[in-house]
Amino acid sequence: MADYTIAILPGDGVGREVSVEAMKILEVIQNHSKYNFDMKVIPCGGQNYLETGEEWAEGSFEFCRDEADAIFLGAIGYPGARLPNGDLAGGSVILGLRSGLELYANVRPIKLYEGVPHKIHGKFTQIWEAGMVDMVVLRENTEGLYHALLRRSADRALGREAYEPPAMQFPGLDGEVAYDPRPISANGSKRIIDMAFDIANRRKGAPGDGVNRVTCVDKSNVTRGCQLFRRVFDEIGEKHPDKELDYSYIDAFMQWITRNPEHYNVVVTSNMFGDISTDLGAVLQGGMGMAASGNIGDEHAFFEPVHGSAPKHAGLDRVNPIASINSIQMMMDWLGRKHGEDELIAIGKLIDESVAQHLTDGDMLTYDLGGDAKCSEVGDAIAKILTEKMN
Ligand code: IPM
Ligand code: MN
Repeated sequence: MADYTIAILPGDGVGREVSVEAMKILEVIQNHSKYNFDMKVIPCGGQNYLETGEEWAEGSFEFCRDEADAIFLGAIGYPGARLPNGDLAGGSVILGLRSGLELYANVRPIKLYEGVPHKIHGKFTQIWEAGMVDMVVLRENTEGLYHALLRRSADRALGREAYEPPAMQFPGLDGEVAYDPRPISANGSKRIIDMAFDIANRRKGAPGDGVNRVTCVDKSNVTRGCQLFRRVFDEIGEKHPDKELDYSYIDAFMQWITRNPEHYNVVVTSNMFGDISTDLGAVLQGGMGMAASGNIGDEHAFFEPVHGSAPKHAGLDRVNPIASINSIQMMMDWLGRKHGEDELIAIGKLIDESVAQHLTDGDMLTYDLGGDAKCSEVGDAIAKILTEKMN
């Protein structure tokens, strides 16, 4: 089968612009390969909620689950767009899909391309050689501190009754108290840690020393959930004697990825820690405009830039489309592995090479990388390089 249905969820803010660039890349691929993409654009998000009263049209979740072979999401989040219960409007889309489709791994590669300055100091300074930042962070995506919100969002997307955590007493706390339970399960930990070792099997090791290292990031000196997570990590790690097992508490990890990013190869962590650390990780790779991701489960996946809706840049055609283009790269790789299509995996590599070539040419960059090119111009330029490579 060479036909794939791709759901495109532009969402909010700049998500709408970068989705156009993602579709450009899909068009180049279908024009120059045996693959055909049936792209269905589904309006959604907080802005859509304000305009229509719905986060997305009824049946959209089911379409993503039952019809789509893969999903691209632009961004969710619009200023002032909240549901009556206070939850993020658009949450049914991003969090509902993560939870409802069991997309337990949020895979976030952090790679500094040649020609791209990292963003430490907020200036365009270069401390590291490009090759010295090349890691992938796996963020657990279905439980942890997001668990209750994830469940509520999936419940809404599926039309189920909303999950609410049971009332709790907190000794010593008076007056109004709000809390978010942070459950971490052995099964949930096992599936993402397994994937981390799986990904390590396909990698060359840490850029600094070539050691195929897998780092468990947690706060197991303090929290029970993290103690369980680390125990599962050790049990699985024992079965991988060819990997170096490495550990870091989340607070120290923030320091070490900034000081010694070359030490890291594959990193696995819980939900909120992964959310926070990958924004810092984006700084190491040239900013949020460079950060791609895949929300991946055993059956389904959606791919999205990490940057979010960036309302202040929306509608200006100025943000960096590379995070989205590289998310399509991850989509091709995932589809290829899922369907045993080596050609799709190879196309994913060609996208990576096209982005790399575009960045070393260095004459057309968006503002975040020090240039003044438009989002659409960069998209066109990379699409052109990819076309040449595919011909
Ligand atoms: C992300 C975002 C989301 C998250 C928001 C938009 C709910 O920050 O994908 O990292 O917190 O997971
Ligand atoms: Mn985030």
